[in-house]
Amino acid sequence: MTAATTTKLGAHPGNAIRTRSLTKIYPNGTRALTDVTLAVDKSDFVAIIGSSGAGKSTLLRCLNRLVRPTGGTVRLFGEDVTHVSGRGLRSVRRRVGMIFQQFHLVRRLTVLENVLVGRLRFNTAPLGLAMSLARVFPRNEREFAFECLRHVGIADLAFQRADTLSGGQQQRVAIARALAQEPEVFLADEPIASLDPRSAETVMDTLMHIHETHHIPVLVNLHHIEFARDYGRRVLGMARGRVCFEGRPADLDDEVITGIYGAKVGEAFGQLSAA
Ligand SMILES: Nc1ncnc2c1ncn2[C@@H]1O[C@H](COP(=O)(O)OP(=O)(O)O)[C@@H](O)[C@H]1O
Ligand SMILES: [Mg+2]
Repeated sequence: MTAATTTKLGAHPGNAIRTRSLTKIYPNGTRALTDVTLAVDKSDFVAIIGSSGAGKSTLLRCLNRLVRPTGGTVRLFGEDVTHVSGRGLRSVRRRVGMIFQQFHLVRRLTVLENVLVGRLRFNTAPLGLAMSLARVFPRNEREFAFECLRHVGIADLAFQRADTLSGGQQQRVAIARALAQEPEVFLADEPIASLDPRSAETVMDTLMHIHETHHIPVLVNLHHIEFARDYGRRVLGMARGRVCFEGRPADLDDEVITGIYGAKVGEAFGQLSAA
């Protein structure tokens, strides 16, 4: 049927993502990642937890090359993308669907137009042109965008302006927009951090649904551990720029949690227990 269901799974041997000794030192000298070696399987749904400043965002940003690693390698379905630029970099950004805490929708466009923009974002056309094209998209593109909205359960909101939606609905638009890129892997950087617990659950359910129906591997940063426990099939813990724990949700006992969060252990439960 639609292109969204025909991601290139199986076309690449080995892991979806593999890093080796990944290091990032920002220009101001901050060491954000040290020697991170990890593999994400094609069937993985991985939750990364850790206190703020642990390096979670930097890791995801290195994986889709929003950030250039200082050392080590990043492989995407076997291809070394550590140093790509230009067209190669645009290709990485298209293949890796990214979801942020702050949604990053174009507020004055409709939901459908935001999803259509997702199909153009990584083309060579400047974004301004892409946005004007969004209003005159061919029918099959519009149907495909609708299909993406159906997958996240909000096709009925297609013609509303993005800024009229609740936070949870906006995040689902962002997921639909990422889906419209036909990504091979999803990265989500604290996608529920700005949401109330109920919307957070809906957004996590949506990510899981996409993972299961489209067979897209997902790597999601979560500040608090409750959702990592509920949704992660595998959990990575980060502290001070290193991966310090790898295991299953059931392994997250008090000792492990203290090991990951250290003195900031309150952050592990903060927002949700307060809500
Ligand atoms: N653009 C940047 N320039 C300098 N330091 C940064 C930058 N982005 C993040 N950092 C620093 O890198 C470390 C890791 O940050 P980050 O990856 O955002 O962690 P997390 O997402 O786990 O909160 C922190 O010390 C943070 O202050
Ligand atoms: Mg972060």
